[in-house]
Amino acid sequence: MTSFLENHDRSIMCGELRESHIGDEVTLFGWVDGTRDLGGMVFVDLRDRTGIVQVRFDPDSDPYERADNLGNEWCVALSGIVESRGDNVNDEIPTGRVEVAADDLHVFSESETTPFPVRREVNANEMLRLEYRYLDLRRAHLKRAIQMRSSILHEVRAYLHDESFQEIETPYLTRSTPEGARDYLVPSRVNPGEFYALPQSPQLFKQILMVSGFDRYFQIVRCFRDEDLRADRQPEFSQIDMEMSFVTPEDVIEVCEGMVSEIFESCLDHDVDAPFRRISYDEAMTTYGVDDPDLRFGLPIVDVSDEVADCDFRVFSGTVADGGVVRGIRIPDGVDAFSRSDIEELEDLVGVYGAKGLAWAKVNADGWSGPIARFFSDEEEASIGDAMGAEAGDLVVFVADEPSVVCPSLGHLREHLGEELDLVDEDAFEFCWITEFPMVEWNEEEDRWDSMHHPFTAPRPEDVELLEDRPEDARAQAYDLVLNGHEVAGGSIRIHDRDLQHTVFDMLDISPEEAEEKFGFLLEAFKYGPPPHGGIAFGVDRLIMLMVGMERIRDVIAFPKTQRARDRMSRAPSSVDDEQLAELHLETTGLQQDDEDDA
Ligand code: AMO
Ligand code: AMP
Repeated sequence: MTSFLENHDRSIMCGELRESHIGDEVTLFGWVDGTRDLGGMVFVDLRDRTGIVQVRFDPDSDPYERADNLGNEWCVALSGIVESRGDNVNDEIPTGRVEVAADDLHVFSESETTPFPVRREVNANEMLRLEYRYLDLRRAHLKRAIQMRSSILHEVRAYLHDESFQEIETPYLTRSTPEGARDYLVPSRVNPGEFYALPQSPQLFKQILMVSGFDRYFQIVRCFRDEDLRADRQPEFSQIDMEMSFVTPEDVIEVCEGMVSEIFESCLDHDVDAPFRRISYDEAMTTYGVDDPDLRFGLPIVDVSDEVADCDFRVFSGTVADGGVVRGIRIPDGVDAFSRSDIEELEDLVGVYGAKGLAWAKVNADGWSGPIARFFSDEEEASIGDAMGAEAGDLVVFVADEPSVVCPSLGHLREHLGEELDLVDEDAFEFCWITEFPMVEWNEEEDRWDSMHHPFTAPRPEDVELLEDRPEDARAQAYDLVLNGHEVAGGSIRIHDRDLQHTVFDMLDISPEEAEEKFGFLLEAFKYGPPPHGGIAFGVDRLIMLMVGMERIRDVIAFPKTQRARDRMSRAPSSVDDEQLAELHLETTGLQQDDEDDA
């Protein structure tokens, strides 16, 4: 007996059927999206990965009875003639002008009632959807995201190959890498008591590939970081990782802009406006309060420290006298838009970031009103108003404190206001490069300097001499690419000079012994003619999330993890039996059997 598939070929995909196919005999394979029995005829919506088409079973057709018994999500084949839907056009779907009049039906497999309806927008519990991820992935919008991911990665590979990059795989079972998150560890059975670390990035290996003379490396690579999860973070995520020899930051930036332009054009038919704007880290922090600004709307933060230095409002003048700053945001037409209690909510919001309050004033044609207005002379109001570009009807709000409080407070307030006032153009793609990052940031807890990127980032040549005495003022040859308020890529020119590397380790309080222990193999490699080199890594999931307009990166990952780093479908992580532990020379000290999970 021959199988059904030996005698039948799928002739076309469901989503491809158009009026030009009217009269064609077609064979379709797919899943039953829904059935309706109308006026003696059975209508079946058949779905495959390309879309949905309506199929009609007339009462006198051979498979009519069987069609009437079809259930949702059954996997079937059917054949028939493509016909016009006449006046019953469905404009909601691209195949809505045609239907297939079926004359043959074959059931590959039946389906039990699914735990949630697959066909429409579901409001089923997310945990349930993650548990039955394969059903959720049958839905069009998730499927589109995963398909788009495939196309984007295809274009990335093609572009980088054309640019003479070579794709080289680096190991997953390796040593700890210096990206600053916690490692996922893998015990070694054959080396008792020893562990591999899954790579947080291929950073050290790609630098070593430059020492080997590969010149231009890339890899679409999984990275693992055991960190607290957020909407745009996953414990395993992918990078488009690149490294190049004999390059300046300009060279790296040019390759990235070329790649981004190419994938936006070919996958979204969207022209990006390259070269992208460049914003120094300092300017980003002052004007947007964050180092990953969303440029789809304005609402710049304005420093008014000079304007308020001598005013009678002690909160402001005192802060400036103590070396702090006073910065504000002008909310256009905010007087009408915000009631007193709305403003109190804004005050609560900045409080989360440590602000002690949110001072505010209404700007009227004849001067300010509100609780702080009486502290300001007409001249002071005018000079602050000028600095902020304020006009009658606007609301101006201020935070006074150290920059470490003012920046995140107003940065998050700005983002909140952008959403609240509907200022964000959801269809826009606003890129910028953030440059001139500081080399280091202060680690309060451990009372020492941490590198802002990683310890192999080169300082700007003119700042090398600052490393020893004024590390806080030294800037790095580092660059981040930001899209719509998300950091989508980060990279730098690396140190290839051993003396400079040792100066930087010194600055970071990394002893020669510690350096040897952690990165000895890289330092050893650098004894043998390392080329000057630099690179970057894109967060693939974030980039794709933004390209397809999803809100969370797990919507562009086929099998994502929950907030607590669990895979609901395969039920990982899981406990293992004692034998397996013994083989790995491990004992566990406590077991948490808590399967409850918030997504
Ligand atoms: P970095 O740590 O900045 O640089 O990572 C590069 C990009 O990866 C993305 N990313 C993440 N995406 C999802 N989930 C996460 N947990 C996560 N963490 C990071 C971000 C980020 O911009 N080795 C360096 C690159 C280099 O210097 O070449 C590195 O890994 O989009
Ligand atoms: P107070 O003098 O504490 O009553 O505060 C008067 C106004 O100034 C209130 O609206 C407070 O929210 C605001 N305020 C207090 N401290 C700060 C600060 N550090 N920055 C901005 N506004 C503040």
